[in-house]
Amino acid sequence: MVLDDRKEIVRLDPGGMLGLVQRLGTMTTDGWEAASDLALPPVSPSAVIVGGMGGSGIGGDLLRALLAPTAALPVVVVKDYRLPAFVGRDTLVFACSYSGDTEETLAAYQEAHASGAAIVAVTSGGALADHAAASGHPVVRVPPGLPPRAALPYMLMPLLRITGRLGIGGVTDSEVREAAALLDGLVVRWGPEAPSGVNPAKSLAAALEGALPVVYASSSLFEPVAQRWKTQLNENSKVFACWNAFPELNHNETVGWEGVRGGHPRLHAVLLRDRDEGARNALRVEITRELLARRADGVTEVWSQGNGLLARLLSLVLLGDLVSVYLAVLTRVDPTPVEIIAEIKRRLGGG
Ligand code: PA5
Repeated sequence: MVLDDRKEIVRLDPGGMLGLVQRLGTMTTDGWEAASDLALPPVSPSAVIVGGMGGSGIGGDLLRALLAPTAALPVVVVKDYRLPAFVGRDTLVFACSYSGDTEETLAAYQEAHASGAAIVAVTSGGALADHAAASGHPVVRVPPGLPPRAALPYMLMPLLRITGRLGIGGVTDSEVREAAALLDGLVVRWGPEAPSGVNPAKSLAAALEGALPVVYASSSLFEPVAQRWKTQLNENSKVFACWNAFPELNHNETVGWEGVRGGHPRLHAVLLRDRDEGARNALRVEITRELLARRADGVTEVWSQGNGLLARLLSLVLLGDLVSVYLAVLTRVDPTPVEIIAEIKRRLGGG
């Protein structure tokens, strides 16, 4: 089995994506420290906006999920050029672009600047770092040279640190420590050294080979994790994938399964479960799983690990990241390059 052959993995993953995924726990700790003493704008915001695309935007989705249970203000994630009309002086805007050269995020940053919003930029450099520095907006500098999607903790944790420092809400030091320690432990159980027979990440990657992965979160809280699974399968494994979340999917997408006959296309459902999904959602998942089992090529259920919400969310992020790299290795696809994204950016003539 190629997934148990370290030399072969290194050969098939020349950009070292697997090694980066294995550092998720360390990056979580480092990202948390990155904004611990950044000078912040004196703002008591009525709303938080996160502007960011792709691998830089998903940090905003996770921030929204993490603040939802406790924060007294809305968190809106903008994945486009324009900001909502309500943005003004009492809005906190995070402009997040790993490269600092993504045109949608730069346009959103300029709109935020024009509206007088309090802005914090999170980036490794590029035009965003230049503009923010020139305008006196604080910049969280993340380490350069990584694929943006591999830098997720560097893009997420500073946001949480800053919302915590501003009294908006977030996570505590001990929740961060719990998440980092959990991720380090899970990397041992799910990483390349754990053989296929006892490694659920490797088994799931093997089950997904040749199938269309359909990733369902068991509640809206875990939507960003299902979305992360999908985008990591897209970018690392170079496969098409879908995501959705309970309970909404019971009101439309579930009907689409009626059209799945004879195993074509081969669909493999992955159900992301969490202990706080709620009793009604749990029942929905059970019923839906039975219906899917009759039509899907396979159904795999995985549960979040840990106690705090951060740990639980990131435990399933880690599993999905590992599955996506293992699937790439199995299908002899280099996980790191995303040539189509680069080509589109080139043809648009920007970052
Ligand atoms: O994973 C990727 O490379 C992309 O999704 C990028 O994150 C996206 O294109 C935005 O670029 P950046 O993160 O540099 O703003």
